[in-house]
Amino acid sequence: TPTAVKIREITAEDDGKRVEVNGWAHRIRNNGGLIFVTLRDGSGYLQCVLTKKLIKCLKAKQLLAECSLKIMGTIKIDERAPGGRELKADYWQLLGGSDGEVKAKVTFESNPDVLLTNRHLVHRGTNASNILRIRSHTMKAFRDHFDSRNVFEITPPTLVQTMVEGGSTLFALDYFGQPAYLTQSSQLYLETICPSLGDVYCIMPSYRAERSHTRRHLAEFTHVEVEYSFISFDDLLNRIEDMVCSVYDGLWERHGDIIAELRGKGETEAPKLERPFMRLEYMDAIKMCNEGPNPILKKVTRTNEDGSVETEFVPFEVGDDIPEAAERELVERIGRPVFMTKFLAKMKAFYMERDAQDASLPEPDQRTLSADLLLPGVGEVVGGSMRIPDLETITRKFKEEGLSLDDYYWYIDLRKYGGFPHGGFGLGLGRFICWLCGIDHIRDVTLYPRIEGRCKP
Ligand code: 4AD
Ligand code: MG
Repeated sequence: TPTAVKIREITAEDDGKRVEVNGWAHRIRNNGGLIFVTLRDGSGYLQCVLTKKLIKCLKAKQLLAECSLKIMGTIKIDERAPGGRELKADYWQLLGGSDGEVKAKVTFESNPDVLLTNRHLVHRGTNASNILRIRSHTMKAFRDHFDSRNVFEITPPTLVQTMVEGGSTLFALDYFGQPAYLTQSSQLYLETICPSLGDVYCIMPSYRAERSHTRRHLAEFTHVEVEYSFISFDDLLNRIEDMVCSVYDGLWERHGDIIAELRGKGETEAPKLERPFMRLEYMDAIKMCNEGPNPILKKVTRTNEDGSVETEFVPFEVGDDIPEAAERELVERIGRPVFMTKFLAKMKAFYMERDAQDASLPEPDQRTLSADLLLPGVGEVVGGSMRIPDLETITRKFKEEGLSLDDYYWYIDLRKYGGFPHGGFGLGLGRFICWLCGIDHIRDVTLYPRIEGRCKP
């Protein structure tokens, strides 16, 4: 018997060789006396040619799209065949039957809900499987990047009793009779390991009970998070930039063919990523929104007493969050990656270090050493900051937030025993891939998206 091979292992040197392949019938085409089966095994696609004689009438009925097959035959290198080669089958065996209806269940026209319900079937498609390939390559690229800079990977717990990004998006659960949550971010745990390993990262799920149905929010997302010790705010921005560029370059270099196919713009090389990225202070971003003949405005909706809803567009004010659509419009106009920096303390999380220049201002109005990286087409992909390093300030912050010092004793100990300047950031993997591959919706780059109202498959 011939050796079983994976489709991608077949090369021009295998011309005339007899092999065994196993896979799923991606497409079946009848052409006169021949049946063409495009076999898919995850590593590639191979056109297999079966003569009608080989397929006895009765058995031909079993040969339906998405059945699984073992096929043996001879490799023929042929320019006219897709991929430049085909398999002349001399033996085939049905491994698992199919009713042939998969393609009818999920089409490009299916509504989004049908597609999500049948996501396990959608993944068999060329586009969806290419996205999964890029996801895998991207996680590896991040790991390679951190490895090359001597950053250690750790796996913090996701069952926690602390919040990081505000109480409103916590998923609560019962932990052996005690209250607990699904983690919103692994940041606090990463920080605790700096005194042990110096610089650390993790690629873990984070959870947010986000009610908003947008094209970039999930209830569960893959979070690439890093924490660096003894860095300055400038170092932090430079490291984010270095990471984004090195991962981008590496992925285009090794997997540019898949990325270009997903982007569908016929690109033969990576669109240029101009360095350094623009740095834009939040205050200046607000000005930029309001300036010029065509300002970017804030949408305000009001519900009147009679229940009618009114919408109005007004200029942004300092202290306003720049919401998703406006943020995307801003980065679209800028036309390249931009760090939006130094958000006001009152807009941001309790742990953020403040800009020493603002010490004389009331605390809520002080700028923080924080930054979001906005990428064209997506908006915020990275959020990071320097952390409050000293015991006195962090303790006060916890009290102001109404957080129990007891619950966070281990986080506070970090300041009790050798507080140190440090900072880090979190990158949403799905959003990064949307940007890289020019995909609009985060659900399309997520294995099994979790959004309100859906927890399966
Ligand atoms: O800006 P965020 O909320 O920051 C943090 O969680 C920090 N504790 C990270 C840190 O410093 N270690 O989230 C970071 C990034 C966002 O920029 C976004 O890309 C992604 O995580 N993100 C989401 N992605 C998908 N769905 C959601 N609901 C997301 N929330 C945040
Ligand atoms: Mg953020």
